[in-house]
Amino acid sequence: MNIANKRILVTGASDGIGKEISIKLSKSGAKMILLGRNKEKLESVSMQCQNECHIVACDITDTGALYAELEIILEQGGVDVLINNAGIFHKGGDVTTIADEEIDKIIETNMTAHIKITKKLLPSMRNHETAILNIISKAGVVAQPGLSVYSASKYGMQGFTDVLREDTKDEPIRIAAVYQAGTNTGMFAKSGQNAPLEKFSEPDDLAEVVRFMLEQPEKIWLKEVHIEF
Ligand SMILES: NC(=O)c1ccc[n+]([C@@H]2O[C@H](COP(=O)([O-])OP(=O)(O)OC[C@H]3O[C@@H](n4cnc5c(N)ncnc54)[C@H](OP(=O)(O)O)[C@@H]3O)[C@@H](O)[C@H]2O)c1
Repeated sequence: MNIANKRILVTGASDGIGKEISIKLSKSGAKMILLGRNKEKLESVSMQCQNECHIVACDITDTGALYAELEIILEQGGVDVLINNAGIFHKGGDVTTIADEEIDKIIETNMTAHIKITKKLLPSMRNHETAILNIISKAGVVAQPGLSVYSASKYGMQGFTDVLREDTKDEPIRIAAVYQAGTNTGMFAKSGQNAPLEKFSEPDDLAEVVRFMLEQPEKIWLKEVHIEF
């Protein structure tokens, strides 16, 4: 896909992997739509993007606000590429140690919101050359002790992605998943978790993989990529 002038929506674009993906794809000429909760951080990322760039300050777990913002995006021309990336982590521990509110928040942020975003945007995407990339996690394919709820959200996204690909297999839209191991971002610290960040891959390198996945020739599609550090 030639992504120059394509409209690309990235959720979780204010930080970490989504921020680097946004900056990277803007350098290939994409028109970025940056979504996250923190307007100031989104504005800072938009200043680092090299092309037309819109910001959408929205909590994706607030379905009413989310759908209102997606309606505006649709009225403004919709999107050619959707990158479902926003996510949160939880402090490790078996399921008995995780509060109900945290369980709901993790499942809603990491899985339910992305299903709803896809549901809302898919009708406008399915009849022309478009793509949906879900930034999932190694935790969506490999069981890791202490991450039951995070993994539930990510395994859920794996199932959703695989069925979405089947449901659209005769259409021009392409569906892909990224299953990456640890990446050096603030995600762990935000959940009060220490992680050996120095061993982890860099978010800019992960963004380069996403650019590579999108910018393949028309007849090549990398439907899933597994990244180790
Ligand atoms: N880092 C890793 O090692 C790793 C490994 C495998 C998979 N992943 C996955 O990769 C994705 C990106 O992670 P990251 O490491 O880049 O994390 P990060 O640096 O913490 O960034 C997370 C992004 O998600 C946004 N976000 C969180 N909750 C949101 C909400 N309710 N509404 C809107 N935006 C929200 C945050 O924006 P605001 O806080 O500004 O709203 C931020 O832009 C996640 O899905 C994560 O599970 C990460």
